[in-house]
Amino acid sequence: MELSDIEADLTSVLYTEEQIHDKIAEVARQVEADYAGREPLLVGVLKGAVMVMADFSRELKLAASMDWMAVSSYGSGTKSSGVVRILKDLDSDLHGRDVIIVEDIIDSGLTLSWLLENLQKRGAASVEIFALFRKPAAAKVAVDVRYVGFEIPNDFVIGYGLDYDEKYRNLRGVGVLAPHVYS
Ligand code: IMP
Ligand code: MG
Repeated sequence: MELSDIEADLTSVLYTEEQIHDKIAEVARQVEADYAGREPLLVGVLKGAVMVMADFSRELKLAASMDWMAVSSYGSGTKSSGVVRILKDLDSDLHGRDVIIVEDIIDSGLTLSWLLENLQKRGAASVEIFALFRKPAAAKVAVDVRYVGFEIPNDFVIGYGLDYDEKYRNLRGVGVLAPHVYS
């Protein structure tokens, strides 16, 4: 689905598919340099990170494995609850692995700070984070995000894996959801 297909549901377009892909390529070059000679384990956070994972992992000129976790911190609204629950755990043993958590967006940072601590306790050699988007609130939490795609304003955004009530994940670009949709 294109941004133009749901124009009425958007306040503005934030990034086109092409801008996102350029950014992902930029981050991939950094990761290749940082992980030269190593084989990182990419841990995607379902479901939002599906698109980032698909594009980032294929862009990466490194052998990398993939695993997935599903956690919940959001209900069907637009605010983080702060309560994190594991809905699906990893299949991999993290001992000695260089883990890169792949996330769509960091807002309050509650999800990622919890996840980071959880994975670090499993004996990984290293755990870093790649978040495609970061909102201003994240600055208040002590989460060390090594790779950030875009710093965005404090709006509720959808597309490229990001949903509102499970909708809009299949949008190619990313836009700001119009308030009339959720109020
Ligand atoms: P945090 O715990 O507040 O950092 O929220 C992280 C999770 O909330 C993300 O992984 C997303 O799934 C979801 N989220 C946060 N902001 C947005 C948004 O603007 N649009 C869609 N989902 C969001
Ligand atoms: Mg997410």
